[in-house]
Amino acid sequence: MVTPRVGMVGGGQLARMTYQAAIPFGVTLRVLAERADDGAALVGGDVEIGSHTDLEALRRFASGCDVVTFDHELAPPELLTQLEAEGHVLRPSPAAMRFAQDKLWQRDRFGALGLPVPAHARVATVEEVEAFARANGGWPTVMKAARGGYDGRGVWAVRSPEEAAAVLAEGARGGLTLFAEATVDLEREVAVLIARRPGGQSVVYPVVETVQENGMCRELVAPAPIDPVVAAHARNIAERISDAIDVTGIMAVELFVARGGVVLVNEIATRPHNSGHHTIEGCVTSQFENHLRGVLDWPLGSTAAMAPAVVTVNVVGGPSGGDPRANLPAALAIPGVHVHLYGKGPRPGRKLGHVTALGADAGEVRERADRAAAILVGEPA
Ligand SMILES: Nc1ncnc2c1ncn2[C@@H]1O[C@H](COP(=O)(O)OP(=O)(O)OP(=O)(O)O)[C@@H](O)[C@H]1O
Ligand SMILES: [Mg+2]
Repeated sequence: MVTPRVGMVGGGQLARMTYQAAIPFGVTLRVLAERADDGAALVGGDVEIGSHTDLEALRRFASGCDVVTFDHELAPPELLTQLEAEGHVLRPSPAAMRFAQDKLWQRDRFGALGLPVPAHARVATVEEVEAFARANGGWPTVMKAARGGYDGRGVWAVRSPEEAAAVLAEGARGGLTLFAEATVDLEREVAVLIARRPGGQSVVYPVVETVQENGMCRELVAPAPIDPVVAAHARNIAERISDAIDVTGIMAVELFVARGGVVLVNEIATRPHNSGHHTIEGCVTSQFENHLRGVLDWPLGSTAAMAPAVVTVNVVGGPSGGDPRANLPAALAIPGVHVHLYGKGPRPGRKLGHVTALGADAGEVRERADRAAAILVGEPA
């Protein structure tokens, strides 16, 4: 085989955008998608339909690939460990992925490594949540599911013992492990992406601000408008984590910048991530290309910015149900905006795509990206 075959478990928009990075290299990307209408399955040339929770499906898929990587972290850890034991090359390894699969485990391990994390404790009763809140700044306190959360699902800000009881009941119904976490007085949220090869060589992207709305990332601003000392510290944390967990490919580290400039680790993802979509046009090498380079153990590409200001706005389904596919020509009338649609039908609160704009001035760039995103969902400001 002259060109390697990379397998990606999961057929969402991340796999869809990884295809775009694989094509110029002539790398064969195979995707294991759950459904034929998953974002990547709609556009990919080499798609297998199967479940990431089915060992047989994973085994069959992996045996046709030189290296297996991931569009999400939902495959059960024990199945991934089994595949690795059978000799399949998984990048990142199941051991590295575990950090992204279990927030409580991640918090505990990062704390033990001396990394700054918010105060937290596993909770199973209202009394435990009350005691935690009392000792850690009072209400509201944050409650989180250790596993399975995304886009703010699995995260609750609770303001009273009664609200904590409701979350505990919901957790018990879903069989969830829950933990409580101190509410951080946020100045802003940022993310650091890092790409790493199996031998440890890595490249770090400039720090990007992630603006959240209802627990979901709404907007990225690069570079993050923060003190260079804070930015250097954030990048250093990402490097320490990537070495500690021995990750390969892209890793995203979500960080809290608390008032006063204190940096805390929120969570990591061991794959391309929503906080790196601006890198497609905004950096010399996109996160998707560097993910492929990293998992193939090829030289990593430059992370330098392509413009003084880069803004990415997520296209999120609105109440009117406007369909970005229908509104695309109107959005494209705005000069210089790069539109990415994920092939999904519109639903309120669903991430349907993103828009990136580049330029000299962050305010002007944001205005253009915002306007295009609003037009796409049929709700121009
Ligand atoms: N301890 C905290 N203090 C203040 N805000 C918090 C805290 N924990 C979470 N949040 C807010 O909730 C958002 C979502 O939390 P978190 O990143 O844990 O959830 P998620 O659903 O896994 O995220 P993602 O959107 O990255 O999938 C954070 O980005 C932040 O805005
Ligand atoms: Mg998050």
